[in-house]
Amino acid sequence: QGAEGLAGRHVVVTSGPTHEPIDPVRFIANRSSGKQGHAIAAAAARAGARVTLISGPVTLEDPPGVDVRRIETAQEMLAAVKSALPADVFVAAAAVADWRVEAAAQKIKKSGAPPSLTLVENPDILATVAAPGQDRPGIVVGFAAETGDTVRRAQEKFLRKGCDLLVANDVSSGVFGADENTVHIVTASGVEDWPRLGKEEVAERLAGRLARMLADRNSE
Ligand code: C5P
Repeated sequence: QGAEGLAGRHVVVTSGPTHEPIDPVRFIANRSSGKQGHAIAAAAARAGARVTLISGPVTLEDPPGVDVRRIETAQEMLAAVKSALPADVFVAAAAVADWRVEAAAQKIKKSGAPPSLTLVENPDILATVAAPGQDRPGIVVGFAAETGDTVRRAQEKFLRKGCDLLVANDVSSGVFGADENTVHIVTASGVEDWPRLGKEEVAERLAGRLARMLADRNSE
């Protein structure tokens, strides 16, 4: 559905995992492939938006016509997002590590007892961007990867994060790295269940949906 309403708008998208170093040679990561986030950036660019894609380490090609900024850690992702703002639309599709490690300056050696890692909570990029303030984008979109009770948890997350639209998916059925996704769209007006679709198709529909939301805002 027509995403032309995104033409000339600035859309900032986060995508992929983050890598959190343990020491100079090791890191903690997750299974995010970046496919859904990159597909959203590509769809927004095709619709004529100016797109900034802030990506964790992925093996995907840069989408055409998109300004791609590569980062590794959650803290770097937050800094890159802040420097990309202001934006009309922010889409947080990245699987940001909830915790980082108090990393060792030198490679940790085997020395009898296994080392213990101290974890520190990472900043919540989505909640930070969605918080009221001068730089808050007009539309803020979050994702929720759940493994059960998906819609109820997504509705809670929608309220807690302060976003305008939340895309929920059940990841217990192999979504990470896959080409298809079954999502539920949570907004203030309710929940929409979309059929199982290719990630490209989810991105196209979402771009159309965001264009309509922007148009509705402007006509208010
Ligand atoms: O709380 P949870 O990680 O399930 O929330 C997922 C949503 O929040 C996603 O949109 C993700 O990109 C975003 N997020 C974030 N920064 C974090 C954690 C999650 O932007 N530190």
